[in-house]
Amino acid sequence: MSLPSRVRIVEVGPRDGLQNEREIIATEVKIDLIERLVAAGLACVEATAFVSPKWVPQMADNAEVLAGLAPRLGVTYPVLTPNLQGFEKALAAGATEVAIFAAASESFSKKNINCSIAESLDRFRPVAEAAAQAGVRLRGYVSCVVACPYEGAIAPDAVAAVAERLFDMGCYEVSLGDTIGKGVPATIARMIDAVSARVPVDRLAGHYHDTYGMAIANIMASLQAGIATFDASVAGLGGCPYAKGASGNVATEDVIYLMHGMGIETGVDLDRLVDAGAFISEKLGRPTGSKVARAMLASRA
Ligand code: HMG
Ligand code: MG
Repeated sequence: MSLPSRVRIVEVGPRDGLQNEREIIATEVKIDLIERLVAAGLACVEATAFVSPKWVPQMADNAEVLAGLAPRLGVTYPVLTPNLQGFEKALAAGATEVAIFAAASESFSKKNINCSIAESLDRFRPVAEAAAQAGVRLRGYVSCVVACPYEGAIAPDAVAAVAERLFDMGCYEVSLGDTIGKGVPATIARMIDAVSARVPVDRLAGHYHDTYGMAIANIMASLQAGIATFDASVAGLGGCPYAKGASGNVATEDVIYLMHGMGIETGVDLDRLVDAGAFISEKLGRPTGSKVARAMLASRA
């Protein structure tokens, strides 16, 4: 299959990245980061999560973060909503796009959202209906698409079954999460093969954590399988609080460098993105997790 001429990047750093930080980050810093990411050309920035503050304290300022973002034409700020309560709060705070998040592993579903996969789908249905009624766009996630921290390898058909349910519920796109980054191009390709038999491949996104350093290779395999949307996290921030040892998503800077190097458009200004990554890394007091950013910052010095 020929590679696409353009890919869409969903920046998830402010949510997937920051949710895992122990020290509470000031709301203004989160808003500043999101504004910098948008200024770098990212048109879809997952801003926060309307989850329980007892489960994920870092996302407790969800409404304030959304309220602090200036609406911009062509820019969306999706937020996570695990249930109707979260959806209603997100809607009241002005969300125009929400994401429901399921898993292909029963144990991970239980640890992450405290219910079975079937129960989670029952909880998502009213969210999907309320979103449709309110004209709010709905995205879906499936976690553990290759492996689960509690169950090990996950069958591609299990992923396909959950992805299909989310798609049938009205998700315009289903993002495939390699939550613990254990996938390699062969297992990722097998998984996409199974999922794309049930959900059109142009409605799928890759969401690859880089725990084992395989995310860029997995993105290449996904491009070759027809996927043209990738989630990424500036400076490689993050992980999942319910997947011990999981490191951040693939760094957005690395994905943009890869795409531009292959002549694939992203609409993102890599220099400005590196600046946004340097900003948040400085606030967190640690070096960037992006190799591309490190190289570019070193060559600037
Ligand atoms: P629960 O305890 O089963 O919920 O949690 P409950 O319905 O029994 O309610 C218990 C309490 O939570 C009640 O409050 C509710 O009001 C409150 P209390 O009466 O005790 O004071 N509550 C809420 N508060 C605020 N917002 C809400 C909400 N819902 C209930 N939406 C729940 C179930 C889903 C809420 C909980 O398990 C939770 O919040 N989990 C979120 C976990 C999370 O955010 N994980 C990280 C994101 S997923 C991820 O990172 C993976 C991804 O990146 C893809 C990948 O990499 O694979 C997407
Ligand atoms: Mg994730």
